[in-house]
Amino acid sequence: MKYNLSNIKKAKILLDNKECVAIPTETVYGLAANAYSDKAVKKIFKLKKRPNHNPLIVHYYNLENLKKDCEVNKNFMKLFKRFSPGPITYILKLKKNSKISGFVTNKKKTLAVRFPKHAISRKLLKLLDYPLAAPSANISTKVSPVCAQDVKDDFKGKIKLILDGGRSSVGLESTIISLINKPQILRLGGLITSNISKCLNTNLNKSLNSQKIITPGQMKLHYSPGIPIRLNIKKPKKNEAYLMLKKNKNLRDNFYYLSKNGDLNEVAKNLYITLRKIKKDKFKSIAVEKITSRGLGKTINDRLLKASKFNG
Ligand code: TXA
Ligand code: MG
Repeated sequence: MKYNLSNIKKAKILLDNKECVAIPTETVYGLAANAYSDKAVKKIFKLKKRPNHNPLIVHYYNLENLKKDCEVNKNFMKLFKRFSPGPITYILKLKKNSKISGFVTNKKKTLAVRFPKHAISRKLLKLLDYPLAAPSANISTKVSPVCAQDVKDDFKGKIKLILDGGRSSVGLESTIISLINKPQILRLGGLITSNISKCLNTNLNKSLNSQKIITPGQMKLHYSPGIPIRLNIKKPKKNEAYLMLKKNKNLRDNFYYLSKNGDLNEVAKNLYITLRKIKKDKFKSIAVEKITSRGLGKTINDRLLKASKFNG
């Protein structure tokens, strides 16, 4: 993809000065700051209205940089070689001499790390002497942003620079896997679990539901467009927006479709932007058609289920 190098250099100057910059990634846009600086990281929490106890993901350019802060292990190396850069976040042990700000981890001894694939975020990370802490660039509990305009809509001029990298190609947050002990999926995401299971030669499917909440991304009321959502609906009410998997011949004014033919990658890419569009079109509630729980459908249903916990 083409990018504007002078904007990336502007971003570097702001970040060097402990400011926050919104960056495009292939999953969703991130609100980035120097992960080694308390002052910079604190600004992320304030802008997002994020509770301090919810730790951040740190974004790295390469393995060499990561090794300054984290212990790596065999499972990590297998997954890293196969899937990074890309939509997967690893939980690893922090090194004792790591420079990561205690505000990133909420003083935990583990760190969430990711290698984004988007050309702009990679170019930027390559220029910096520090990794970037970056949660999704939305107000806490709301739908994640998948384009520069979404970030603008949420923060209304409070962010000094938003790097515009077009639409995020995946459109869902990264899959989070803990590699501290036995590999465990903590959040479903843009990389499907079965691919990770195959790579590690183990079945990871059970790990998600059987555990207590340890990642706030698993908490109820998250990813919410701010209006009620009803799931698995065959017939929507008259005044309700109806979210459908694929294009339908009898498209009505309140019908929104997520893909032409039901392709789940396309559905994922369009999900958040369509939820935002429905809100902008002033609908007061959303009915969603049943969506398959195969592959990426699992992540899509996870997000819709959490969004459906909104009740006022
Ligand atoms: O795709 C993504 O992952 C995007 C882009 C910007 O990289 N980022 C993102 O960040 O979704 P955020 O902050 O919205 O979600 C990060 C999740 C949170 O639910 C947080 O609780 C969890 O990661 N997390 C962070 N550090 C953790 C740790 N040490 N152990 C367990 N969970 C952790
Ligand atoms: Mg988020």
